[in-house]
Amino acid sequence: MTLWEKHFSSPMDEALWDLSESYSFDQALYAYDLEGSRAHVRGLARAGLLDEPEAANLLGALDKVEAEFAGDTFLRGPRDEDIHTAIERRVTELVGDVGAKLHTARSRNDQVATALRLFTRDALTNIARASLDLVNALIEAGDGHEGAYLPGYTHLQRAQPVLLSHHLQAHAFALLRDIDRLLDSRHRLNVSPLGAGALAGTSVAIDPAYTAALLGFETAFANSMDAVSDRDFVAEALFDVALLGVHMSRMGEELVLWTSKEFNFATLSAQFTTGSSMLPQKRNSDVAELARGKSGRFIGNLTGLLATLKGLPLAYNRDLQEDKEPLFDSVSQVLLVLRALAGAYRTLDFHEEVARASAEDPFVVATDLAEQLVGEGVPFRQAYERVGALAAEALAENVSLRDVVARTEGLQAHLAMFDPGATLARRRSPGASGPAASRDQAARLRRAIDEAARRL
Ligand code: ARG
Repeated sequence: MTLWEKHFSSPMDEALWDLSESYSFDQALYAYDLEGSRAHVRGLARAGLLDEPEAANLLGALDKVEAEFAGDTFLRGPRDEDIHTAIERRVTELVGDVGAKLHTARSRNDQVATALRLFTRDALTNIARASLDLVNALIEAGDGHEGAYLPGYTHLQRAQPVLLSHHLQAHAFALLRDIDRLLDSRHRLNVSPLGAGALAGTSVAIDPAYTAALLGFETAFANSMDAVSDRDFVAEALFDVALLGVHMSRMGEELVLWTSKEFNFATLSAQFTTGSSMLPQKRNSDVAELARGKSGRFIGNLTGLLATLKGLPLAYNRDLQEDKEPLFDSVSQVLLVLRALAGAYRTLDFHEEVARASAEDPFVVATDLAEQLVGEGVPFRQAYERVGALAAEALAENVSLRDVVARTEGLQAHLAMFDPGATLARRRSPGASGPAASRDQAARLRRAIDEAARRL
């Protein structure tokens, strides 16, 4: 019999039991439920609702339950519908009558919300930390190939040469915004719902601010109905993961391209490639494909929860139990992607020669050549047209742009533009992909990393 079935004339049907039990997945919250319960016991003692021996007894039982979970000896009771009722049932078995006082001035509604906020707070910290490691892996990959460059693309057509470090830093800056977002969300969710009761608070003289402080929350809830009924903090966490996932998906797609024979800019290390069951020569970039593939799942978890929330009247509704699986799934999966992708970048073999040869496609110099003419006072639109005509001439005759420039009156002085790396060195504007500008960005990146590490 569940905690509340005793009042009912007939037991719950198995079909409803199977539908509504959540122990099978919410046992992941056990440590957070225990943390919340400890704070609640201390709050009850402080309010004079438990005497010291009673409080000590309950705290001892909560420790015992923790040890049972840690040692994998905790046994679920046949009618424990979720982790919260399971722990209360076990505590009562261990301490007898005083166990009945544990749930004074508490509902599962504020209890669940408290445990879930504690879980999400830790999860966001862990994801931010793993994201920071990926940022460092990207920087290290760039540092390992100083001066290396590759074509930068627009519309996946070669556009202008860019430094490899600049290219990888672009991903790093996006990830740093993700980290910022994770930590902002962590701050917003850091409000204790404990003491909100089922929905309206309680007539018992507890002090939510006291338990909030014990649990390391920045404040206690302001409104009991809001405290038990909103899962905006879960939706926000899922969004943070979804966007981080989208960023990693783009990185994954890029690695798939780079490691294809067609691009051949890089090879994934043996530790980060898989073989094919049928084609012995294959080296597959599954790590990159899964980084791309998991993002669909993260987006699904977010949109699913938003759909769950949108029609709910105040305050608690059982629909809210559907918040947990998407959250647990996104958290565990994004940590897997972050770790594997960092390893893949740390062991990536970048083919400097191949990438440089592609970036020295004379056509890639066209924009810089036009800018060179601008330096001589030619209005940009005219310079653009002039170089466009030269490029068309080269294409029509099937010769290189360099050869056309070489034979064109007045342009020979610009032939040096076609020297290896020459255009890159000229890219000096702030934030640009030239060596000096890139060094400035690296310094900014390092400051942002220190700042994020400080906030962690
Ligand atoms: N397992 C449930 C959840 O996650 C517990 C809350 C049940 N509360 C209630 N009023 N029926 O939401």
